[in-house]
Order: sequence, then structure tokens, then C-alpha cells
Amino acid sequence: MGSIYLYNNRFLSAEEVAISPEDRGYYYGDGIYEVFRVYNGRLFEPGLHFDRLERTAAGLRLNLPMDRSALLEKLEELVLRNRLNEGTLYIQFTRGAAPRSLPFPKEAEPSLMAYTTEVARPVAAMEAGIRAKTVEDIRWLHCDYKTLNLLPNVLAKQEAVEAGTDDAILHRGGTVTECSASNIMIVRDGVILTHPADNLILHGVTRAVVLRLAHAAELAVLERPFTLEELLGADEAFITGTTVEVTPVVSVDGQAIGSGAAGPVTRRLQRDFAAAIGL
Ligand code: PDD
Repeated sequence: MGSIYLYNNRFLSAEEVAISPEDRGYYYGDGIYEVFRVYNGRLFEPGLHFDRLERTAAGLRLNLPMDRSALLEKLEELVLRNRLNEGTLYIQFTRGAAPRSLPFPKEAEPSLMAYTTEVARPVAAMEAGIRAKTVEDIRWLHCDYKTLNLLPNVLAKQEAVEAGTDDAILHRGGTVTECSASNIMIVRDGVILTHPADNLILHGVTRAVVLRLAHAAELAVLERPFTLEELLGADEAFITGTTVEVTPVVSVDGQAIGSGAAGPVTRRLQRDFAAAIGL
């Protein structure tokens, strides 16, 4: 982790960050967040992340303490101060500190906390692929908001790990939505299928970039829900996300997907994604 944090308007060490025990982030998970990728010292697709941050803030009626240009400046400074070349930047806003009571507190000011982490691209998983377990999606009906409430994601991921797999693929009554911290796409008969960007999934920045690359490569794409059966019978499956980029899913519930190794569409999108990040 980078040694310098951004806390409200100041750059501080971890010891200097003093978070109130009454912060609503603790009581209620009353807050929102973003995870940016940093490649070559630069934030990847900041505009798409800010669009989502502002949409989430509006949905939760949480007033962001600064506009996007001021925020971008601060985040770029955080990356510089931590001398981060390759990694992630985490930022969260909570509704602030106030005695525990459900209604929005009148006086509380939203609080901001951000830090960076040095992390390499997940090259091993992108090469070999991951094994996944299907888990019922028990989340609320605003999975499009990127909020701090991640308990269903925590439980799903834990269940997947305890079953000896790498990640959880979530489904609502047999309809695949997304994964514990990424979106999912499958390929069937040359067509890429992925759940539409509605209220049941997070509108992933990587998902949007990959769909843009698929269109540019003239690959057929259908944004429509697909079932667990369609997943298990798919030619290819892969997940997309800030921390996983484009990672193949090679087995689900112990059953091989397609050939049991990354397929040609996945490999093509991995190459195009690497080109998009300037590699
Ligand atoms: N998670 N779906 C969920 C539930 C997620 O939590 C994420 C990202 C994604 C992918 O979105 P993006 O491509 O914008 O990263 C999809 C971040 C990385 C996290 O919680 O750590």
C-alpha cells in the first residue's frame, strides 16, 4: 500500500488518518467507492469512473465534496506522491460522522478517503484462467450503485474460496448476473453474451471498454441475460474488471467451459485490451 493517504482535503500517513467511530460508513455501510487502475502512472478511463461515481452519489443522495476536475487533480497528486507506476487507487466517500440514527444527519459532512496499492497485472490468471463456483445472487435491487455494502459479495467469494475455486459467479434464479467483483461474458456460436447494464449488475468500466473493443473488432455482441445452462454449455467464458482485466473462466462447478482453456475470442480481447492500455 502506498504510504500516503488522501483524507478529506489532506495528504496524510496512515497514523494521521483519524476516522470517527461515528462514521456512517461503519454503522450502515452508508457510502460509495471506486477502484481505478493505474497504468504507467496514469489513471485508466477516469471519465468512466467519475460518471459512475456521480451516478452512485446521486442515487444515494450523497453530496460529493468536490467536482470531478478538483477530484481528478487530487487523485493524480496522490498517485504522484506515492510514486505509483502500476497498481490501483481506491477511493471512498461516506455520508460522514453523526450519532447513530437512520435519517440523513443535517450537519454531517461527507468524508473522503483514498489510497494507492502497487499491484502487477494478473498475468498468471489471465494466461491460465480461473475456476468458478455458482452462487445465488442475494443482493438488493441497485447493484448498479457502487456502495460500501458488499456483504453478499464477501459471502459469495468466501463460499467460492472454501469450495477450492477462485471466484463466485452470481445468478438470480438461474439467470447469470455478474461475479463477486467483476462482470462476466460468454461466447456461444461466435456471439458474445453479457447481462445488460441495468439495475442488477455493476456497470463495469472494463465491461464498457471490452464491449467497445469487441465492436471495433466486428465481433457480434448481444447484451442480454443468459442462464446457468447457457454458461455451462458456452464455447468460452471470461470475466472483466479493473483488477482482473480480461480473465478466462475455464471451469464452472467443476465442469470445463469449452475446451477447458481460454478460447480465441477471449485471447483476441485480451490482446486488444493490452493495446488499449498502451502495452
Ligand atoms: N470491483 N461487478 C462488481 C460487483 C464489482 O465489484 C466490480 C469491480 C465490477 C467490475 O467493474 P470495473 O470494470 O469498473 O472494475 C463488476 C472493484 C474492482 C472492487 O470492488 O474491488
